[in-house]
Amino acid sequence: MAILVLGGAGYIGSHTVYQLIDAGRDVVVADNLETGYRAAVHPDAVFYEGDIRDRAFVDSVFEKETIEGVIHFAANSLVGESMTDPLKYYDNNLCGTKVLLESMVAHGIDKIVFSSTAATYGEPERVPILETDTTEPTNCYGETKLSMEKMFKWTSQAHGLRFVSLRYFNACGAHVSGSIGESHKPESHLIPLILQVPNGQREHISIFGDDYDTKDGTCVRDYIHVTDLAQAHVLAMDYLMRGGESSIFNLGNGIGFTVKEVIDTARMVTGHPIPAKVAPRRAGDPARLIASSEKAKHILGWKPEHADLKHIIETAWKWHKAHPDGFAREK
Ligand code: UFG
Repeated sequence: MAILVLGGAGYIGSHTVYQLIDAGRDVVVADNLETGYRAAVHPDAVFYEGDIRDRAFVDSVFEKETIEGVIHFAANSLVGESMTDPLKYYDNNLCGTKVLLESMVAHGIDKIVFSSTAATYGEPERVPILETDTTEPTNCYGETKLSMEKMFKWTSQAHGLRFVSLRYFNACGAHVSGSIGESHKPESHLIPLILQVPNGQREHISIFGDDYDTKDGTCVRDYIHVTDLAQAHVLAMDYLMRGGESSIFNLGNGIGFTVKEVIDTARMVTGHPIPAKVAPRRAGDPARLIASSEKAKHILGWKPEHADLKHIIETAWKWHKAHPDGFAREK
């Protein structure tokens, strides 16, 4: 019996495959390699190249392999792009998930863990954010993820499937081995952009706004190591296998760091001065996003093990220094 990881060639998906294989599980990966990389797939995983919107492809994987549960990362996830090309997000994130669920129901596969996001909350009513707080996405990416959660809810009621939705805060860092890490093209996330400066690929980092109502005026985020996120997927699948009911969990460290604090930590880790320039605010950025992850700790037994920001940036630096251009696109 294997776990099927959809999007297992992407950033968080590939780290989850490593955690599953470390835990002794058989893993099948399916990925369309639009944003993922073949080289990110663990060598011990069985790999299929294909798209979840293709029902015949999804059916064929369920027919060839003995799958006991699905972990679903196969989605587009750029906030800015979701605002300029919303239908791409409806097509891949929602239509793709609909096809997947149809195929799961037809094949009697009843357990799924999937990646959701802090973007489902929009501008938070308070921090730390609880799973029961208001969800009012301020971008199309968050809207599609919230709609996916609702699709799972209604499908589970009708067909008895059980799901866990994991709402990530700011995923970052890289596998401690240095063998896999973040490789987004184009890159839009703070830590990899900062590290492009000591890597000689960027003159300075822009700080998007220093007039927020925070301790130093820059935005506060809850940075969570990708391996800790990955481990939560392993625990969530175990929880469903034990008979756990459908549920939604936040995943963060519960500690907020400002953009300036992240830059200072990267200066310390890399020994590079990393010049920074204040730029205008980026549209749609909430001032503060911090998770309460008490529910995941209590119910899943999850415990972040890479919570220290310096350690997070050290793992990211190890990866980016050795792979300044990330993974190579093979096709
Ligand atoms: N930032 C800068 N300069 C940069 C890049 C980012 O100052 O060059 C700032 C942003 O304004 C933000 C913080 O750094 O305040 C973090 O930005 P990221 O783009 O790294 O991450 P976001 O918080 O915007 O995005 C994260 C996830 C998304 C998710 C979103 C929810 O990456 O998937 O949280 O709001 F949708």
